[in-house]
Amino acid sequence: MIYLDNAATSWPKAPNLASACVASITEPMGNIGRSAHMAAIHASHTLYSFRKSVQSILSPTETECIICTSGATESLNVALFGAINPGDTVLTTPAEHNAVARPLEVLQQRGVRILTAVADCFGRVDIDEFEKIIKEKRPTVAVFAAANNVTGAINPVEAMLNTCCRYEIPFVIDAAQAVGETDLPKFPKHARGALCFSLHKGLLGMAGVGIMALYGSYRPRPLQYGGTGSNSDSTFQPEILPDVYESGTLPIQAIAANTAAIGYYIGEHEAISLHKQEMSNLLWDYLSCQEGLRMLSPKDNRVGIVSVTVEDGTIRELSQKLFAADIAVRSGFHCAPTTHHHIGTFRQGGAIRCSVGFMTTKAEIEQTAAHVAEALWQLR
Ligand SMILES: Cc1ncc(COP(=O)(O)O)c(C=O)c1O
Repeated sequence: MIYLDNAATSWPKAPNLASACVASITEPMGNIGRSAHMAAIHASHTLYSFRKSVQSILSPTETECIICTSGATESLNVALFGAINPGDTVLTTPAEHNAVARPLEVLQQRGVRILTAVADCFGRVDIDEFEKIIKEKRPTVAVFAAANNVTGAINPVEAMLNTCCRYEIPFVIDAAQAVGETDLPKFPKHARGALCFSLHKGLLGMAGVGIMALYGSYRPRPLQYGGTGSNSDSTFQPEILPDVYESGTLPIQAIAANTAAIGYYIGEHEAISLHKQEMSNLLWDYLSCQEGLRMLSPKDNRVGIVSVTVEDGTIRELSQKLFAADIAVRSGFHCAPTTHHHIGTFRQGGAIRCSVGFMTTKAEIEQTAAHVAEALWQLR
């Protein structure tokens, strides 16, 4: 199989992930904070090392502000539902994943006003217009993706963050496609907000673990209440970080494995990033020469995603031919209807997204391009 669906989830995973996972299962591993025996202490240490390694790849924030969740979706739900109330105003973009768009849809039904920034044909926000809305409307929160999951385009995150900070507007960043793919900006000193992502995409980790990193005084209400191993003599949820957000048993085996994955990523990230850039640029060059395709990804300033749609007709036949050739791309709407409305790909049934990984080879890119060319020729 040629696996070009790394934006959905990475494969292969970090080379050291499987052995770390096996070790976390075969060695005694208790439940975090639930007792004082060695196995429970080992679990607490494992979680602490995980938080420290995540902290080391992010713009500085306190260790206890690195909150473990089940994924970017949960992180975004907490960061949005926990902080936005009826009557509030939220600024977003016209090209968000459903992990943002669906919570906002519900919030809108509850009386929250949604404002939409201006973005170009790749979903990249116009920073001057963004600042204008922030200045005039003073939204309660601004929420936006760092990189678009259909086009791969990277937003001007640093400028957007600086603007938010200048007007003291909290932000929620959906970094699901950006983390592990592109350098995240340094946050300004007085930044207030949340950065949300999963471990299973660019960081080459296992599914089931995500992060909500809190900056400044941004403290959404938790959405889940329960046992934390702390304040066990009380029915009140502890208010301390990170416990307030981490009720229930965390997936410690996946956390242990993901600590190893981050270690691998830290050691290799420059080589990984160069390789992915090279492979996706090659694919972009090949596909942009194909008659009958429309390029949906910018040539530069994007993560390892190259998306296309067909000029006439739908993407259905072309994706079926790629699947038949055992080329794993993602076709359709990518859980991002707002992006497809924005970039005008609804009529074609969405797009075909190819997303390269750290092990994608030049030969695989060439084979993919050749299959696309042949399929287009057959469909003519
Ligand atoms: C931009 C973006 N945000 C959020 C998510 C949700 O991530 P997860 O399914 O890991 O929670 C995705 C997943 O593809 C995504 O691409």
